[in-house]
Amino acid sequence: MALLDIKNLTLYIDIGGDTVKALDKVNLQLDEGEIRALVGESGSGKSLAVRCIIGAIPEYWSIKADRITYQGQDLLNMSYEQRRQIMRREIAVVFQEPTSSLDPSVTIGEQLEESIPPELIKRGWFWQQNKQRKRIAISLIHRVGIKDHDQYLKAYPHEIPIDVSQKIMIAMALASEPKILIADDSTRGMESTTKTQILRLLEKLNKTKKLAILFVSHDLLAITSVAHSMTVLYCGQTVESGKVKSLLKRPLHPYTKALLDSAPSFQLSLPTKSPLIALGGTIPTLQHLPAGCRLGPRCPNARKECVIVPPPRSIQDHTYSCHFPLHVPEKIAKRAPKLSRGLGADD
Ligand SMILES: Nc1ncnc2c1ncn2[C@@H]1O[C@H](COP(=O)(O)OP(=O)(O)OP(=O)(O)O)[C@@H](O)[C@H]1O
Ligand code: SF4
Ligand SMILES: [Mg+2]
Repeated sequence: MALLDIKNLTLYIDIGGDTVKALDKVNLQLDEGEIRALVGESGSGKSLAVRCIIGAIPEYWSIKADRITYQGQDLLNMSYEQRRQIMRREIAVVFQEPTSSLDPSVTIGEQLEESIPPELIKRGWFWQQNKQRKRIAISLIHRVGIKDHDQYLKAYPHEIPIDVSQKIMIAMALASEPKILIADDSTRGMESTTKTQILRLLEKLNKTKKLAILFVSHDLLAITSVAHSMTVLYCGQTVESGKVKSLLKRPLHPYTKALLDSAPSFQLSLPTKSPLIALGGTIPTLQHLPAGCRLGPRCPNARKECVIVPPPRSIQDHTYSCHFPLHVPEKIAKRAPKLSRGLGADD
């Protein structure tokens, strides 16, 4: 059973009086001990998907899905309190902007201590409990690779560099000993050495703590260096998913191929200073969504059939949603088993 299992998730948002499907039957699975990348251009719906998982959407938006489960438990239909408990202890999120997630008026040490759930502190006199909290805070800060705990625990957020802030955010996320860590673009805007440090840290936590990680990013190079599997989103639709190795070697969806072609190091034969090969145009806004496959207006392979949303199909563990996938002869593509586009929303 997948640790996190999302099937046919559709998110309806009201924009200027119209209701639009910001996410359209998104599928995503995260297995125990796995690092899965959720990748797509800016505006493809990655953060909206994260918000649906953690239940952080406004009341006036609505969700339909065949299932959103954590360890087999139905997140959509459980009580508010049950869901809050899961989010408090089992699923932790690190957002993109560490500085805006930290309270500027409270020291790092106090914020770290506050993030430790009370049930992890043994009973005792208050000074014994305070001592325990301090000890745990120090061990958390060491776990994310910060050795000089004295210097940082006493500091305020504005006094520490951005890479240390991001590590502190990860330390706070680890305080509840979660099973899943969702990192929503947590390396965006970082220079490459810092980014590599954060990626290595996530990799180490995955290996040593068996932490399952949903690594959300538009940075394909960063993703492919750490993730085992990958789900590609385009404009609110899942276009392809599978093992990273298999998607890199043989992308079946034109969008995945365009993403790979746009990442310089995947183009080993590309002469220096040559333009990047990518799709023309830009991702449409939610007010101007095309019918059917949303890549249609930008897709070099589009035909008239593409005005119908392609159902997800699967060849071994590799799933794609395209009427005319790359590398797959048309006859075989049509015969590949369809995964149901189920009750998540009307078409
Ligand atoms: N609160 C909101 N109200 C209306 N539209 C929104 C809202 N939040 C996001 N959107 C729209 O939903 C779409 C997906 O946004 P989302 O933030 O999920 O993209 P993303 O893939 O996370 O992009 P990025 O890589 O820039 O973080 C975009 O078209 C965005 O404009
Ligand atoms: S379904 Fe059609 S428009 Fe969409 S990616 Fe495939 S070929 Fe392109
Ligand atoms: Mg985002």
